[in-house]
Amino acid sequence: MTQDELKKAVGFAALKFVKPKTIVGVGTGSTAAHFIDALATIKNDIIGAVSSSEASTKKLMEYGIRVFDCNDVDSLDIYVDGADEINHQMQMIKGGGAALTREKIIAAISKKFVCIVDESKVVETLGNFPLPIEVIPMARSYVAREIFKLGAKPIYRDGVVTDNGNVILDIHDFMIPNAIEMEHKINNIAGVVTVGLFANRGANIALIGTKSGVKEIAL
Ligand code: A5P
Repeated sequence: MTQDELKKAVGFAALKFVKPKTIVGVGTGSTAAHFIDALATIKNDIIGAVSSSEASTKKLMEYGIRVFDCNDVDSLDIYVDGADEINHQMQMIKGGGAALTREKIIAAISKKFVCIVDESKVVETLGNFPLPIEVIPMARSYVAREIFKLGAKPIYRDGVVTDNGNVILDIHDFMIPNAIEMEHKINNIAGVVTVGLFANRGANIALIGTKSGVKEIAL
């Protein structure tokens, strides 16, 4: 099976967590796109979705799925999204698609985070994938200097502007054995909007696409 077939398998497997007559939190990226395809097959059974990016909103609307403003929703039953890496504690690196801030907001209002990944995303220690941080544009150089002090290498994602009008720094050469602590530390740098570490609020359920089928892990 190709990596995309594994992503598709978990995208469709996540449907079993969607309850009828609910509003569903929807993530961003190629795996989440498969979940949207799956959601479209039951669109008449759900009320609609809250979306984590303009790209996902567009795809949901093309299917005729109603997209709600996050401010009009108190809480969501589930949030389904991919990840760039996930460890065995269900902590994740996210933001490869630059949608990390909206993803973190939707994760925060959701009772359950269902993470859908192919097996290549499962790691012992987070950090091989460069950790994205969304930064207010005027703070870019300051935040980069602070990241250097942590012993890591920030690289400006040139040409990328987030849906919120900010920029992205990707932190390279940075293994993260202490993800909860590091999430707090980076969040505390002035000018950081969001760090792509989802450790304080990790996933509740992981669906992992493997060549021998979809594996489910729950915390
Ligand atoms: C989007 O900003 C990310 O958090 C995605 O969830 C992550 O990059 C995974 O993307 P793929 O599903 O495309 O691998």
